[in-house]
Amino acid sequence: MKTKTQIEHNMLGQSAEFEGILRTAKIMATMDVTVLIQGESGTGKELMAKFIHAQSKRQSSHLVTINCAALPETLAESELFGHTKGAFTGATSDQQGRIQSAHNGTLFLDEVGELPLSIQAKLLRFLECGECQTIGQTKTEKVNVRIIAATNRDLFKEVENGNFREDLFYRLNVVPLELPGLRDRQSDITYLINHLSAQLAAKHCLDVPRFSVKAIEHCQRYNWPGNIRELKNFCERMVILLSGKTIAVDNLPLEIKTDQKTKISNPFILPEGGIVLEQLEAQLINQAMDKSHGNQSKAARLLGLTRSALLYRIKKYAL
Ligand SMILES: Nc1ncnc2c1ncn2[C@@H]1O[C@H](COP(=O)(O)OP(=O)(O)OP(=O)(O)O)[C@@H](O)[C@H]1O
Ligand SMILES: [Mg+2]
Repeated sequence: MKTKTQIEHNMLGQSAEFEGILRTAKIMATMDVTVLIQGESGTGKELMAKFIHAQSKRQSSHLVTINCAALPETLAESELFGHTKGAFTGATSDQQGRIQSAHNGTLFLDEVGELPLSIQAKLLRFLECGECQTIGQTKTEKVNVRIIAATNRDLFKEVENGNFREDLFYRLNVVPLELPGLRDRQSDITYLINHLSAQLAAKHCLDVPRFSVKAIEHCQRYNWPGNIRELKNFCERMVILLSGKTIAVDNLPLEIKTDQKTKISNPFILPEGGIVLEQLEAQLINQAMDKSHGNQSKAARLLGLTRSALLYRIKKYAL
């Protein structure tokens, strides 16, 4: 039977974390505000941008996506703002800018953290005044778009490192939306495996495979560095190779069936005089944060914790 979540859209999930994010996304979809979606690769940033557009009052207009990572610096301005014929060598015809083509709709700036600094300045100018200047034209034109930006980088860190303009960051970060890594939505893993396998089996006209309890346990322990994209590809492989069969641990890809955590080769020996466990825990958290350069999700992974469990401890020890 289809759940309410499935009927409404194609973003799957039922964990409290996911439901909370979806609620926020729905509220801000109707508000016409700039949204900055952050999250690791494969967590569903593009899907979320589509969802917000589809729920917004601009749904009947275009959603124009600009992949900022694929914009060569030399062509970026003309790609974004357009040019007139003869504006520069090679401009053989008029070309409308991607921003103008989103007029009355939504402009999705994907991988915005990759935008070259020179283009960041031009984009900021547009965001501040809502006016575009086509290369080769003196007059500017008003363009009405709703901005959604996405990045898998920690943009605040990029600002600190001088790679991203602080003023642009604050312009984009009006409503931040952070998509958790799959390992931080553990209670969604089984749900996603079942629903994605059913969808993919239907797509390929195959029978759905069944996952044994042990196989599911391995999937839940695995840390899914590629997030939902990796999980979806895994389900597709299982559907195609093992349609209608029961999936045992042996059928799982090597990386999922082998335990990820390195065994501590030199086990910690408790000193005769004992230790203060909380002190040791705080020290390990500090080391994990240093090793992951302050990235809480990575630090949590190093410690075998969920991000929320790590945040709880950081607060507890006032680190
Ligand atoms: N909640 C979800 N339910 C179902 N499928 C999802 C969900 N989130 C993501 N997906 C699927 O996972 C894949 C990756 O999603 P998407 O491209 O949106 O991720 P992304 O965060 O933009 O990744 P990247 O940073 O690599 O660009 C897509 O096939 C998408 O349909
Ligand atoms: Mg993406």
